[in-house]
Amino acid sequence: MARSISFLAFAVMFAIPAQTLAHSGATGIVKKDVGAVMKELGAMVKGDASFDATVVARRAGDLKAHAAGMPALFPEGSIHGPSEALPQIWKNFEGFSRIASDLESAATALSSVEDAAALPAALGAAGKTCKACHSDYRKP
Ligand code: HEC
Repeated sequence: MARSISFLAFAVMFAIPAQTLAHSGATGIVKKDVGAVMKELGAMVKGDASFDATVVARRAGDLKAHAAGMPALFPEGSIHGPSEALPQIWKNFEGFSRIASDLESAATALSSVEDAAALPAALGAAGKTCKACHSDYRKP
């Protein structure tokens, strides 16, 4: 009896990390942070938050890291569970990767914005890539 219980505890201990790994692929979890970043920067554009070049540069870095990691996040056949990614990603992986690198360039430009006047255009350029990719590669 005691033996089967400790076997169960052992199995559970190892089952949890395996589960976590399996779900770190094409799930929406990572992207939520990007949404929050855009909201935070959008608030600066609207004047709801005051412009802060340090924050902009840091958030642009988040976007950049996100863009760089994007193609790697979607290894062929990784769609399972609650993903909104479309199989079109693998039909046109080049196109998908190109938009990811567009976002990377836009984020690089955004990271060097030094005054509030330049923020709307820089943020807009980054925002365009979000829409471009979502309209082709994500479920509406
Ligand atoms: C190269 C393609 C691509 C780019 C660029 C891109 N996304 Fe996405 N995004 C996706 C895909 C694919 C999904 C669906 C992922 C999934 O459900 O697994 C997604 C999902 C999301 C989601 C939903 C996540 C959730 O938790 O449901 C948000 C929010 C999001 N993206 C924000 C953004 C923002 C903001 C940008 C621009 C700064 C952006 N994305 C740029 C491909 C992209």
